[in-house]
Amino acid sequence: MRYVVAITGASGSIYGIRLLENLPGEKILVISEMAKKIIPHETGYSVEDVKALADITFEDDDLFASISSGSFKFDAMFVAPCSGSTLAKIHAGIADTLITRAAAVAIKESRRLIIIPRETPKSAIFLRNEYELSRIGVCILDANPGFYSKPRTIDDIIDFVVGRCLDQISIEHDLYKKWE
Ligand SMILES: Cc1cc2nc3c(=O)[nH]c(=O)nc-3n(C[C@H](O)[C@H](O)[C@H](O)COP(=O)(O)O)c2cc1C
Repeated sequence: MRYVVAITGASGSIYGIRLLENLPGEKILVISEMAKKIIPHETGYSVEDVKALADITFEDDDLFASISSGSFKFDAMFVAPCSGSTLAKIHAGIADTLITRAAAVAIKESRRLIIIPRETPKSAIFLRNEYELSRIGVCILDANPGFYSKPRTIDDIIDFVVGRCLDQISIEHDLYKKWE
């Protein structure tokens, strides 16, 4: 299986990082320019550390990259975390970066697209964008932990969200204790 992981400049780059650490298969990574600044600010990782978790990394301005074309197959794409700006571009069909172009490809090719927005509170514009993308089959998976798994650490909270991401593509994991 081949997955695209995009990390954009919302708070919560650790979600994309932990996703890369737990996703099986081939991982193609794109980090937006803002995310490159936020990763070292919010996490103990350098951008190079994060790139090392992927099989292939492309720059966000590299629109010649393979994932720009619908003829290049990938099984699912995650935008984790997804900024309001990238969300709005995906909603509007603007594809002027590799991340937004790959998301447009996922939508037009009817591939799984899982977006992990991070914003609070959310404006009506943000909610409209989420709603309309959801209506066309995009999964809007908020960075919004459940507490029924009784998290004790920040890692537990992160792993709950990452586990829900893996659930979307039917990957078995033990990142959080499922309700039984
Ligand atoms: C420290 C920091 C945290 C930010 N957190 C968020 C956030 O949680 N959600 C969001 O939508 N934008 C957030 N932003 C704003 C985005 O980085 C900004 O809109 C940027 O243009 C997004 O670009 P990108 O989507 O190409 O990464 C944050 C900016 C900074 C500097």
